[in-house]
Amino acid sequence: MRTPVIIVNFKTYQQATGKNAVKLAKACEKVAKESKVEIVAAVQTADISKVANAVKIPVFAQHVDKISYGKNTGFILPESVKKSGASGTLLNHAEHKLDYKILKDTINSCKKLKLTTVVCAANKKEAAVVAKFKPNFIAVEPPELIGKLVSVSKVEPDVVISSIAAIRKVSSTPVLCGAGVANGEDVKKAIELGTKGVLIATAVTKAKNHEAALKGLVKYI
Ligand code: G3P
Repeated sequence: MRTPVIIVNFKTYQQATGKNAVKLAKACEKVAKESKVEIVAAVQTADISKVANAVKIPVFAQHVDKISYGKNTGFILPESVKKSGASGTLLNHAEHKLDYKILKDTINSCKKLKLTTVVCAANKKEAAVVAKFKPNFIAVEPPELIGKLVSVSKVEPDVVISSIAAIRKVSSTPVLCGAGVANGEDVKKAIELGTKGVLIATAVTKAKNHEAALKGLVKYI
């Protein structure tokens, strides 16, 4: 994954599910191509295959489980998302928290498969812990700002700055941030704070015009 990056988390929004996921991913691809900014589509497991077949931008899973082939009904096999066309996965999102031991083992499973890991952390304390597990990226996302359209980079810059400082004591893992990111200025501010990009959901998935929203985000990169 190149940086700076905008990871669009499709979550389970209706506007980003099934056929709508393909449509949104195509808008991401168009803007990525025109702007030359890396845009990643983090889609639902059931949509990975059709989205990956429809676009050339990186497609991520939103989660994978620490399991291997075998008796694991209903779990998400890392090998399976890889075979479906995902090149990475989010892990430990605020909406899908993991026990630290499981998180560490899952990151290691993904490494073996060369699946890029973007591990979320709520604050500097959690960021320092997950940095020890050496994921490819750490995304700082204060849960209370998620979905509010008030950007972490503007209203909680100290959470981002202090998390980066805490991570640097442990590793050089590149850091992203997310929660409430709404426009290009929020992205610009996030990068000024020392991040390599953002995770975003609401402002893109719920936009009346996806392409216009995405164009706004890459405006100052
Ligand atoms: O993973 C990104 C996400 O949690 C941020 O959500 O809706 O605040 O952009 P949102």
